[in-house]
Amino acid sequence: MKIIFISGARPNYMKIAPMIWEIQRLKKQGVADIQFVLIHTGQHYDPQLFDVFFRDLDLPAPDYSLDVGSGSHTYQTAQIMERLEPILQKETPELVVVVGDVNSTVAAALTASKLGIPVAHVEAGLRSFDRTMPEEINRLVTDTLSDYLFVSEESGKENLLREGVDPGKIFFVGNVMIDSLQQSRYLWESSRIHDEMDLRQREYGVVTLHRPSNVDNPARLRAIMGALAEVSKNIPIIFPIHPRTRKQLEQMNGSTPSLRLRSGRIEANGVYGLEPLGYHDFMALVAGARIVLTDSGGIQEETTFLNVPCLTLRPNTERPVTVTHGTNRIIGTSPAAIVEEAARILKSPRPELPAPPLWDGRAAERILIVLREKLECPSASV
Ligand code: UD1
Repeated sequence: MKIIFISGARPNYMKIAPMIWEIQRLKKQGVADIQFVLIHTGQHYDPQLFDVFFRDLDLPAPDYSLDVGSGSHTYQTAQIMERLEPILQKETPELVVVVGDVNSTVAAALTASKLGIPVAHVEAGLRSFDRTMPEEINRLVTDTLSDYLFVSEESGKENLLREGVDPGKIFFVGNVMIDSLQQSRYLWESSRIHDEMDLRQREYGVVTLHRPSNVDNPARLRAIMGALAEVSKNIPIIFPIHPRTRKQLEQMNGSTPSLRLRSGRIEANGVYGLEPLGYHDFMALVAGARIVLTDSGGIQEETTFLNVPCLTLRPNTERPVTVTHGTNRIIGTSPAAIVEEAARILKSPRPELPAPPLWDGRAAERILIVLREKLECPSASV
């Protein structure tokens, strides 16, 4: 059996890694010999958004790099399709596996479907019900085209059933990102970032921002930065800055946090901008934080699993289990709400909640069992 994995952008790598580790484990134990091919589209190409993660997650170098780079959504999607098609024709895999909701996800799903190659979507069924969000379009199209829909939380299954997806295609397997977090715990727990920055556990906050709706609008970004400055009067805020956000902040010079190097020490309250961090350092930072403020999807889930209070600076979430079973609150971007909610968290005890169902570090194992059964490996067993 030959499987092709598609990676495109930073949040994809920690979703693919556990499946590759599982394939390697099955091979080592002599249980199954699944051939895999890894294709990186090049949607993210900066070493800080690509190489560091492949290294931290012990992913093999991609077999193919499509080098599409940045551009409009149409350009990126079309370029990926054009460059991917001949590779899929040459490799003739039994299955293409796509993860998450980035442009690379939808482009690969579309290319494979057009060639009649079955598609598996990992993290299927999530819906923000907000079609102004580019990722929502990517999720809807990818799920429509997929043959195997691997779901990370109950809402995903409900959404797909409501949309009329054949229940036989839906598999509630849990969250592969939590597999990565669990299985590399010993590595991120030994990160030196706290020592390097002179940070003590639970005495700092972490912020990440990269959504176009927040960072491409200077007035909104300025308002959020103002609120963060207010919050940082009570606790230092560490802000690893995404390239998209950095570009905007540089254009709004004057209201940017000074960009300090990773080795910089935190000496006082304030907002400390950093270069993007690798997976281990970032997870160590999040796990030790008193509070996280973010507009990311994945960080809502990682904080839920780690019992770190999270404020999501968006009007909605496609990951409702992080709110109903977890530590997440959806608060939008009004400065008053950010300041008020952060103050509330800083006064409250740390939550202790059980992980959502099937967020147990074994999602990739379940996915491989399904795939081996479906792609006719009779020896597969639970
Ligand atoms: C993409 C995904 C988003 C995901 C995010 C994680 C889509 C629609 N968006 O958003 O879902 O949460 O990745 O980071 O797929 N850039 C660099 N270096 C890079 C890549 C990008 O400097 O390696 C800059 C470019 O100027 C580019 C901008 O960042 O224009 C945005 O990159 P892009 O891939 O278009 O979207 P992201 O905002 O990263």
